[in-house]
Amino acid sequence: MKPPALEALGLRRKFTHPSGDVEVLRGLELRVAAGELVTVSGRSGSGKSALLALLSGFDSPDDGSILLDGVPIAGAPPWHTCAVLPQALGLATELTVAENVALPLRLRSDIPRLSRSAIQARVTELLDELSIGELADRYPLEVSFGQQQRVALARAVSGRPKVLLTDEPTAHLDAASTPAVLGLLRRCAEEGAAVIVATHDDLVHKIADRRVRLLGGVLT
Ligand SMILES: Nc1ncnc2c1ncn2[C@@H]1O[C@H](COP(=O)(O)OP(=O)(O)OP(=O)(O)O)[C@@H](O)[C@H]1O
Ligand SMILES: [Mg+2]
Repeated sequence: MKPPALEALGLRRKFTHPSGDVEVLRGLELRVAAGELVTVSGRSGSGKSALLALLSGFDSPDDGSILLDGVPIAGAPPWHTCAVLPQALGLATELTVAENVALPLRLRSDIPRLSRSAIQARVTELLDELSIGELADRYPLEVSFGQQQRVALARAVSGRPKVLLTDEPTAHLDAASTPAVLGLLRRCAEEGAAVIVATHDDLVHKIADRRVRLLGGVLT
């Protein structure tokens, strides 16, 4: 049987503070199949972002393992395998909106180099879908935070990653901008990605195949 696209087995993560240790994840288990969209809820501070940092290989667990297609990850996997929309966005401020979205396509090493026009077409398609096409040549700090969030989502999905990890992708959006983001997340799953969305937003939970809740360091 095919292994899940993404597996987290017995994840433990403890942070040390002067005021005492905080054990955020306590043996967490999660399996997400290719083509499945799973939302993770949980109160602020419950460890959703900490979990995504581990799943993306940006952080390392104290115990447990993370497998992609059955193979344990060692460090952060390439972006075309696992792409992230971090809560803090992490856009390159010295690159334009279009250049940020093009970056994963330019840096792909697993396929022959894409033509300039193919990259341009993919970037335009995504920016237009998210209603930010007219911002292509601006720099991230010249657009609103909600617009930056959509740029970071377009960047995460541009290279069609096998695993897509998004942290509160609708947190700064108005009601008019949310449906396009939900549609894009859903389409990524339909096209075969394993999609994980940390969110407080009921509208996102409604489009999920499965909803899990982070409570006491484990998923319920
Ligand atoms: N790098 C770190 N060093 C120390 N403590 C951390 C670190 N990252 C997270 N924490 C702590 O771990 C806990 C979980 O934080 P996390 O950011 O994962 O919560 P969250 O569920 O994403 O919350 P929110 O909904 O507000 O985004 C918090 O108590 C936080 O203070
Ligand atoms: Mg968070």
